[in-house]
Amino acid sequence: MSIEVDRATARVRRLYDRYARRYDRDTGWYERAMLGSARRVLCGQAHGRVLEVAVGTGRNLPFYPPNVSLTGVDLSPAMLAVARQRAAELGREVQLREADAQALPFPDATIDTLVCKLGLSSIPDDRAALGQMFRVLRPGGRLLLLGHVASPYWPVRIVQFVVERFPRRLTGDRQLRRTVPLLEAAGFHVDRRSVRRAGIIELLTASKP
Ligand SMILES: C[S@@+](CC[C@H](N)C(=O)[O-])C[C@H]1O[C@@H](n2cnc3c(N)ncnc32)[C@H](O)[C@@H]1O
Repeated sequence: MSIEVDRATARVRRLYDRYARRYDRDTGWYERAMLGSARRVLCGQAHGRVLEVAVGTGRNLPFYPPNVSLTGVDLSPAMLAVARQRAAELGREVQLREADAQALPFPDATIDTLVCKLGLSSIPDDRAALGQMFRVLRPGGRLLLLGHVASPYWPVRIVQFVVERFPRRLTGDRQLRRTVPLLEAAGFHVDRRSVRRAGIIELLTASKP
């Protein structure tokens, strides 16, 4: 039995349950063209008790330092099944469990590093998810984010607008988000931000004061 979620979230879960078997194959080209070293760069900064939200098929698992204590959550049981297989192949110890980012089942202030990559844009209420991440992070803890956001260049934004129509039907993914105002509203301090690929790919490091 899957965890109970609202309608919009259940729709995203259905989409990813259906997508799970193709996800790694379909996103390989995107990773090579758009992400470059971004997964490695961000995961390398994780330490202590690490929670990855929207862990998906576990594509970040190879990049964590070996000494972190790692937990990954995702909404989609089918995505988690692929992540379990990947963890086994890598010999990576990780707790993988089903959970909704908008209602994280962890106590307050218990996580040292929170990681979320390419996840926020498919979570229906990203504001609520960031609020939950803030809650579970300990003071001084770090949030490592990678995602696609609205480009600062309007011609690129037009392309993003058009592109959003297609994948949104497949995965619920939004292309035109802006993360910094949401982070600040949740209480985070943005420590570092960089963008790549015409400002579409954003890497962010934030902390809980
Ligand atoms: C584009 S995939 C990214 C997966 C992975 N982080 C990566 O970097 O490849 C988005 C993931 O977010 C998950 N997701 C969407 N809404 C969620 C929610 N409310 N709670 C937890 N996971 C969610 C989906 O199931 C999916 O696995």
